[in-house]
Amino acid sequence: MGKFRRTKVYEEIIPQVKSLMEGIDNRVGILANVSALLKEKFPYYFWVGFYIVKGDNLELGPFQGPVACYTIKKGAGVCGHAWEVNMGVMVPDVNKFHGHIACSSETRSEAVMPIVKDDEVVGVIDVDSSELDAFGVEDLDGLKVIADMLAPLF
Ligand code: SME
Repeated sequence: MGKFRRTKVYEEIIPQVKSLMEGIDNRVGILANVSALLKEKFPYYFWVGFYIVKGDNLELGPFQGPVACYTIKKGAGVCGHAWEVNMGVMVPDVNKFHGHIACSSETRSEAVMPIVKDDEVVGVIDVDSSELDAFGVEDLDGLKVIADMLAPLF
């Protein structure tokens, strides 16, 4: 999917995310539906889901894709790193990221966006692709908008 098209798709799904949330008091359900929406709209997403901060760890939340590891320590892997630095992180080649946690051997590239509430990271959106260098700044921008929309659920 071309970079220009991606930005359009992120723009298109923002109202869908909003309507999935409206009047729903069910965080797990909303996160599950947002994972499904993202997986459906972006063919280069191989795994998409949420890890949620619990104490010093990230715990697996709703996702779409192959089975994944349950717990990631702060600072560990791409997810734990994005939490620690409180910034979106893009990894074009996971084999070149020291400490990458390989939940699936098919993952080649990854993007992680923290969900921030009251200046604290409360969770992350993790997106993996089986293609090398699959993600661009368009993905980080789109995921940031979605993360900000989901933050009030925490
Ligand atoms: N690769 C991630 C772990 C989560 S799975 O990819 C679903 C990481 O290094 O943080």
